[in-house]
Amino acid sequence: MSLKPISPKPIRKAVFPVAGLGTRFLPATKVVPKELLPVVDRPLIQYAVDEAREAGIEQLILVTGRGKTGIVEHFDIAYELEHTMSERGKDLSLLEATRATPGDVIAVRQQVPLGLGHAIWCARAIVGDEPFAIFLPDELMVAKPGGTGCMKQMVETYEQVGGNLISVLEVPMEQVSSYGVIDPGAARGNLTEVKGLVEKPPQAEAPSNKIVSGRYILQPEVMRVLETQGKGAGGEIQLTDAMAKMIGQQPFHAVTFDGFRYDCGSKIGFVEATLAIALRRPDMGEQVRAIAARLLT
Ligand code: G1P
Repeated sequence: MSLKPISPKPIRKAVFPVAGLGTRFLPATKVVPKELLPVVDRPLIQYAVDEAREAGIEQLILVTGRGKTGIVEHFDIAYELEHTMSERGKDLSLLEATRATPGDVIAVRQQVPLGLGHAIWCARAIVGDEPFAIFLPDELMVAKPGGTGCMKQMVETYEQVGGNLISVLEVPMEQVSSYGVIDPGAARGNLTEVKGLVEKPPQAEAPSNKIVSGRYILQPEVMRVLETQGKGAGGEIQLTDAMAKMIGQQPFHAVTFDGFRYDCGSKIGFVEATLAIALRRPDMGEQVRAIAARLLT
């Protein structure tokens, strides 16, 4: 595993698959997209977009579906709101992260829910012939105080190893069947070679307890693999299966994120994220701690 900088093509584009129905959060998600549910005062998608921008990503490709255009609206300039607020002398800085540079947010549709691999493939024309990042917004990745976000850590590693990179983390063996799992090879620090990948294996067949945790840097060739990718786990076209075919063709590594991760795809994970982030916020942490202590007595 060489660690000298190889200056691969920079990562300028990121794909956010956000077409899911969010059935686990009904009735909250009947009208409001899951990605717009707030963790304290920022919608889930905003955390992922902020993480992308911190990593130097310029173009955001949202793979949406019916009823999910609110996510695209979120990154528009709300002219009436801003006009009214500034007339009243209100601070507009809270909206700063929601404003996209014209042309930097692109929405494509996944018309039929055929799986994550299919969702990514729907972005192929916008991604074009360059490496790109993928963010699954359900996986909320938070930097340690003074640290950097997950994608920034991955981009820094990518600049040294190139090829394909995924973020991984260890979970208890009982949980592996809910995730993509890697077959790990040689490891050095937070970098592990990926020898194999399997989507949602039964616990007894899982090659490790290192799961794919929702951040990817992939070479554009994955789009060609996805073109003909058949159905896999759960009857869906799986990104994991397409990535597995790239192993051996191109370098493939995993990065273990040095930070906090919350699985906001589940209600418990969402509550955990809300509590953890509120407790760490300088403007409310102390009050939340006092409330939690009172509730626990
Ligand atoms: C997806 C991926 C899986 C990954 C997981 C992370 O699964 O297919 O490989 O481990 O996200 O949350 P999903 O949660 O969409 O079933």
